[in-house]
This record gives sequence, C-alpha cells and structure tokens, in this order.
Amino acid sequence: MRVLSGIQPSGNPHLGNYFSMMRRMVEYQDSSELFCFIASYHSMTTVDKGETLAENTLNVAADFLALGIDPNRATFWVQSDVPEVMELAWLLSMHITVSQLQLGHSFKDKTDQGFSPSSGLFFYPVLMAADIVLFGAEKVPVGKDQKQHLEMARDIARRFNLQYGDVLKIPEPDILTDVATVPGVDGRKMSKSYNNAIYPFATEKQLKKAVMGIATDSTPVEEPKPYQGTPLFDIYRLFLDEAGTAALIEKFQTPGVGYGHIKQDLLKAILEYFGPYRERRAEIMQRPDEVRDILSAGAKKARAAAAPYLAAAREKTGLVY
Ligand code: ADP
Ligand code: TRP
Repeated sequence: MRVLSGIQPSGNPHLGNYFSMMRRMVEYQDSSELFCFIASYHSMTTVDKGETLAENTLNVAADFLALGIDPNRATFWVQSDVPEVMELAWLLSMHITVSQLQLGHSFKDKTDQGFSPSSGLFFYPVLMAADIVLFGAEKVPVGKDQKQHLEMARDIARRFNLQYGDVLKIPEPDILTDVATVPGVDGRKMSKSYNNAIYPFATEKQLKKAVMGIATDSTPVEEPKPYQGTPLFDIYRLFLDEAGTAALIEKFQTPGVGYGHIKQDLLKAILEYFGPYRERRAEIMQRPDEVRDILSAGAKKARAAAAPYLAAAREKTGLVY
C-alpha cells in the first residue's frame, strides 16, 4: 500500500501536526511504502520571504528525521525538487471548475475576511491533488482540516479518469478521529497562525511558557475540576494510554490538586516523550549538509516513482505526438 502525505514548511511543527500526521507517517513505514514530502510550493501561499522558506524547509526536514523518518525505507523529499508536480497540476486543473475552487476552505476564509487571495491560494487544492496522484498514493494521513482538500483531489482524479480511462489512482483520506483536531492552548484548533501552539522542539523555557499558558477556568483548588472538552485535558490525553487517562481524570476530580500542578506534570510528560527526539534533532542540525544530501537523494527516488504516472497522463492527454 502506498501512503503519502506532506507538511508545509510554514513554521515549526506543533503537537497537532505531530499527533495527526507526523507520528502516523513514521509508523506507516513499518507496514507500507511511505512517501513523505515537505510542501514548499504550498507554503509560498503564506511565506513570502525566500530566506524564511529555505530555513523552514531544512528545519522541518530535520524534525521529520529526528522523529524517525528513515530515508532508506521511505521516500522523503521536498516538493519543489520534483517540479513535475506542477506540470501534472496543470493537466488536472482542467478537471475542476472555478466555482468548485471558490468553495475551497482556505480561499473562502480569506475572501470572507475581506482579503483578496492570490491565484496561488486559489489553485492550492489542484496542486495538492497533483501531489497525491503523481505517486499513485492510495492512502493519505491528514488532520480533519484537510478533508475537503482530499475530497477535491478524489473528485479531480475521478473526472480525469472519466475522460481518459483508468490512469490515476483514487486516494483515500486517512483521518484518525481521536486526534482529528488537537486544541491549542486557548481551546481553538492548534495552529501555527493562531499563536496558540505547543512546539515539541522549542526550548524548555518556551515549552514551559506555552504549557503554563493553557487556558483553564477559575474553579477553586479545593473543588473537583471540569476536564471534558478542556484544552488541558485534551492535550495531556494525547500522551496517555487508557489507564493514564483514567488517572488524569482522577487528578482533575481530586480536591486540592490545582491546574498548575497538572500543567507541571504535562510539561514533564512532554519533555519525557520528546526528549530522545529533541536530542537527535540537535545532533542532526549540526550537520545540515547531510540533511541536504538525504533530501536530494529522496528527490531522485521520488522522481523515478512519479515518472510512469506523469508519462501516462501526458500520453493520454495528447502531449505525446
Ligand atoms: P497548520 O494548520 O498549523 O498551519 P499544516 O497546515 O502545516 O498546519 O498541517 C500539517 C498537517 O497537520 C495536516 O495534516 C493538518 O491536517 C494537520 N493539523 C494541523 N493542525 C492540526 C490540529 N490542530 N489538529 C490536528 N491536526 C492538525
Ligand atoms: N495542504 C496540506 C496542509 O496544509 C499539505 C499538503 C500539501 C498535503 N500537499 C499534500 C497533505 C498532499 C497531504 C497530501 O497540511
């Protein structure tokens, strides 16, 4: 089974990215043929400084490697190192209408807020469809916010096939409901753009500040505290198994245990969980050229995997004469 997903290098990955996508990608290496990429073209819709994009790209690559992506088992590359994806995006763009793209979440959000989005943002879902079908991916692990994009990708691929025969694989979204939306410290969806995220590779001081800043209510220490639907519980839960979760509920309900105490425990749990990854990341970042080499070899592998799909699409659409 071919599993594929990408992450934008638009900042540092946070717990939402990790639990809904990055961790699962690492796990999929054991059971599937994994395709994992850094969506540099996509992040140009938000990052407009060249230096920042280049730096973020290398950083996210180091994050993924530290978390366990193994370039010998997986195909791991930067989107823009396989520019064929742009060509396929053009071929696919004939199979979705302007009015459908106008319903795209990120495009609609921007227009609803009164901004005038770039045509790049408008085209975003088409490029995302190309990312997926260029590699014949069957399964795409993402967070819930990408569901609509996946539906569009399926739609585009189906219509292309209707026109030209069975050329493209129709991808299945793979959304884990448990972690579909990880809340941020303010209870809204954790997001790089909301300033509410917890970054596992941040310094200890920054992590402490983020965890201590998790919003809680004003229930007095001596009373049992609500846990259901609270960001403190929902974030902490990510690190626990069933027994651990039961013990956490107990803590919330025990008079005398304050939120500050639970936050300290959570901080400890985060540092413990990510400790080995943090160490490995620091080592990797001492040798950035090795990361560049890994990505360059990954792009070669990705190119080879893409070639038959692009060739078929070119042939069917009449570009080969
Ligand atoms: P962000 O929304 O923070 O900019 P990205 O768009 O780069 O993050 O998302 C990368 C992956 O992480 C996607 O699969 C996305 O669905 C997932 N993701 C992002 N935020 C969350 C969240 N709060 N909870 C669960 N998954 C998330
Ligand atoms: N749009 C995705 C996000 O913001 C990133 C992405 C780009 C992606 N292309 C993809 C995810 C293809 C899965 C498959 O998170």
